[in-house]
Amino acid sequence: MNSNVSADSFGVQDLRSADYGQAAGHGAEEAMSDRRINVTQPYLPPLEEFIPYLRQIWDSKMLTNGGPMHQHLEEALCEYLGIEHIALFNNGTTALLTALQSLRITGEVITTPYSFVATAHSLLWNGIKPVFVDIDPRTLNLDPRKIEAAITPHTTAIMPVHCYGNPCDVKAIQDIADNYNLRVVYDAAHAFGVRDAGGSILRHGDLSAMSFHATKVFNTFEGGAIVCPDAKTKLRIDRLKNFGFVDEVTVVAPGINGKMGEVNAAFGLVQLRHVDCAIERRREIACIYDEQLKSVKGIRPVGSVGQAKANYSYYPVLVEDDYPLSRDELYQALRNNNIYARKYFYPLISDFPMYRGMASAARENLPVASEVARKVLCLPIYPVLDRHEVLKVLEVVLGPSENRGGGGLTCPATS
Ligand SMILES: Cc1ncc(COP(=O)(O)O)c(C=O)c1O
Repeated sequence: MNSNVSADSFGVQDLRSADYGQAAGHGAEEAMSDRRINVTQPYLPPLEEFIPYLRQIWDSKMLTNGGPMHQHLEEALCEYLGIEHIALFNNGTTALLTALQSLRITGEVITTPYSFVATAHSLLWNGIKPVFVDIDPRTLNLDPRKIEAAITPHTTAIMPVHCYGNPCDVKAIQDIADNYNLRVVYDAAHAFGVRDAGGSILRHGDLSAMSFHATKVFNTFEGGAIVCPDAKTKLRIDRLKNFGFVDEVTVVAPGINGKMGEVNAAFGLVQLRHVDCAIERRREIACIYDEQLKSVKGIRPVGSVGQAKANYSYYPVLVEDDYPLSRDELYQALRNNNIYARKYFYPLISDFPMYRGMASAARENLPVASEVARKVLCLPIYPVLDRHEVLKVLEVVLGPSENRGGGGLTCPATS
């Protein structure tokens, strides 16, 4: 282990704590130090906390169809997130599909190529043509300065993504939408708990779709949600996610089965108790990476841009050309050390076969996204990543570099 990056140099509390139901202590850390380190690991609260909820479900025999757990989780999430209305889903993709259906969006939708494939797939599944627009080099989100040039008479909406939980330029996007009478549907899969100066980032646009997949900051194993502006919209969405049923004998739309089940909702209620702690732990890890990487030539952390409250869901860095290794070489060097960083988001969505023939998918149309996809690497970050594991990741990243970080680290407290 490199002496410039020692465990003692961390000015932060032990990264493994009893809060996480894990065996703490030096011996346990040593034993864990050789385990495979993935880019993320689902957060699991203590099993004992979940059992009473399962008992309630067994007693009630209510497994799905908007049972008590589902209702409680909707209420609890509204309170936690600071929003008025939410409709839970069985995953983020059905939430996206249904959000588009509920607004009757058709024709062409302007979106980002720099995201997970589900963003554009949700458009294709609705028979909508995605039109890719390049991203902003700072936020890595849809660049509002490039949106207007992509609007045609067929454009009906904009679907931006708060990538890595960094907020889009919501004001500029809304101004364009207002000028051209377009809808805005945010893919907010990464944006759990993110706030800007005015409150939850999820309040912007016509709708925001969330993912509670196992890899997300807040997970319900699988799950998702749509944040709705009013009760009427929520009612329409609740019907759409239940086949279009209004009552036992009335169906008003060709809806889907998008309902979240009771076990998932109950798990969400348990998760919610721990989510602040989990985000704080992520923040501490991000802080260590920030400190150690800030003076490393050729490694540029994307960072948290524009939030009043971030969620530290990912730790993306750009491996620039003046770093001694290429992005792919660093990726491989990490793998050789049992560290599985991920190239999120490479390839671009627009490079997948079902999209690449589209005019907007041409690389010349997407120079920033193409460059970022070539350089990006997401380093491991998750609540139970212990300090020895963080050090191990840093060792590999700092290894080939002359400009290593070092010295004592301090991590400012959250506001
Ligand atoms: C940006 C983005 N959109 C949509 C999704 C789809 O969510 P889910 O996996 O819950 O269907 C994901 C992640 O999985 C995502 O990262």
